[in-house]
Amino acid sequence: TNTEENVGNLKKQLAKLFEVSLRETVPTEPDIEPLVAACTAKFGDYQCNNAMSLWAKIKGKNTEFKGPPAVGQAIMKNLPLSEMIENCSVAGPGFVNVVLSKTWLAEKIQKMLIDGIDTWAPKLAVKRAVVDFSSPNIAKEMHVGHLRSTIIGDTLARMLEYSKVDVLRRNHVGDWGTQFGMLIEFLFEKFPNFEDVNESAIGDLQAFYKASKQRFDADSEFKERAQRAVVRLQGGDPKYRQAWMQICDISRKEFDKVYQRLGVQLEEKGESFYNPHIPGIIEALSNRGLVEESEGARVIFIEGFNIPLIVVKSDGGYNYASTDLTALWYRLNEEKAEWIIYVTDVGQQQHFDMVFKAAKRAGWLPTDDSTFPKASHVGFGLVLGDDGKRFRTRATEVVRLVDLLDEAKTRSKAALVERGKADEWTEEELERTAEAIGYGAVKYADLKNNRLTNYTFNYDQMLSDKGNTAVYLLYAHARICSIIRKSGKDIEELKKTGKLILSHPDERALGLHLLQFAETVEEACTNLLPNVLCEYLYNLSEYFTKFYSNCQVVGSAEETSRLLLCEATAVVMRKCFFLLGIVPVYKI
Ligand code: ARG
Repeated sequence: TNTEENVGNLKKQLAKLFEVSLRETVPTEPDIEPLVAACTAKFGDYQCNNAMSLWAKIKGKNTEFKGPPAVGQAIMKNLPLSEMIENCSVAGPGFVNVVLSKTWLAEKIQKMLIDGIDTWAPKLAVKRAVVDFSSPNIAKEMHVGHLRSTIIGDTLARMLEYSKVDVLRRNHVGDWGTQFGMLIEFLFEKFPNFEDVNESAIGDLQAFYKASKQRFDADSEFKERAQRAVVRLQGGDPKYRQAWMQICDISRKEFDKVYQRLGVQLEEKGESFYNPHIPGIIEALSNRGLVEESEGARVIFIEGFNIPLIVVKSDGGYNYASTDLTALWYRLNEEKAEWIIYVTDVGQQQHFDMVFKAAKRAGWLPTDDSTFPKASHVGFGLVLGDDGKRFRTRATEVVRLVDLLDEAKTRSKAALVERGKADEWTEEELERTAEAIGYGAVKYADLKNNRLTNYTFNYDQMLSDKGNTAVYLLYAHARICSIIRKSGKDIEELKKTGKLILSHPDERALGLHLLQFAETVEEACTNLLPNVLCEYLYNLSEYFTKFYSNCQVVGSAEETSRLLLCEATAVVMRKCFFLLGIVPVYKI
């Protein structure tokens, strides 16, 4: 049953075996964690690195061993017999190298084909998580930073969901704050019958925001009215509430266009939602002695920071931090989430560090980050234009995200038309493929980089069919599907009656990589690094290419086995696409 827990996770299955061996080898040190890692060395597929640190612990004590290599030898000798392992050897200062059995590998892949890839899902120690992502601000621009947050957050949510975590996908929109006084007064002024106003009348909400800001800055009488409007809104005046809801609604429709194109699900719980809970939370924090007076404001001092976290402004109002503290409390206590993940640009890292530390001081979160409940900030870098500066359409303007996505689709459609697909396919097929490729390209170009680094937004690069791009990967998948189709064989039948064998070295290498899917997703998910999965997917296509160029599939004596290997590759690729939010393509 122990190995059953980790179906598909080779690393964990091996770690279990090494755990047994380590206990046997050094009974006086029963708590040693096995250190097992995949390796690219020619001596083996995995390596156990415990010998050196174990030696450091036992040398000088009454031990039979003469040095780390001898410890390694003993670890190897004490490994329980397992069908997983073909052979082992000890190298250098005691590394134990394991070569996996290719019969075993082949059986596991075939079993996955029959039982489905969901049997390879990671098992995580959390039941419920919040992923707070996208989270644009009402009436302000939804910029490329929000696009990154949307794309990265969606992938993380998908990986967690695949791992059977109940994920609350939260859109923490900025729908509260002093800007609404100004917007509402401007709305009343422009549209005396404001109840009938919809997005087509207002047009571009960003322009509306700009115009009202201009009015606000230029006219002190208007400014005063706007400030009074904030008070009336926050006091619950029905007319002001309605105007506020209308403005939010118009923004929401604009955001939804982006989510709809990207296939992203989100549940909005904006800043306003937490507002009624703030006073109680500030009070609770005060009662614990965390809140102090400083320059008229109420603040929490946090070790390691030279500025305090302001939780009540000097005018008595609440701010971003008051809302985030309250939201964190709510998510932990009302929603019973064990892992709260925030996806924003790295610029907000300090804010979250401070909020999390305050929550630890308040006793809401354990101080030790290796246990749950836990809060994590997933930061990301800037999107740059070709000029190396912040990505914009024209010199100063921000990019409208809908336009950006439309452009990617238009370009990918043009490329398909150029390849004659307009004559081959229905308009419907052409549209859907163009969307899958265009949006997939935008997502993959973002996700393949380590999220902390800045990346350059370039249509030509992301839409190229060569190199590490979504287009290349989608085509690779479509080609595998066409190999299977053209073989004329019923693959469902083959899964049950055929037998997968990994005899050629390139078949074995591909098979091993396929079986490393589960541990890769687990790593990407626990470390919150989507690029780890992208790298896996790209390598998978490389292993496949090598296999396909050296091993004849259709018409060979090994046809059945090789078709099964093709199918397994396609299945794993599709799961990767799914987790990255990319829609697969079957024909090219
Ligand atoms: N609205 C914020 C922004 O646009 C992002 C909110 C992130 N989530 C949070 N709980 N603070 O920068």
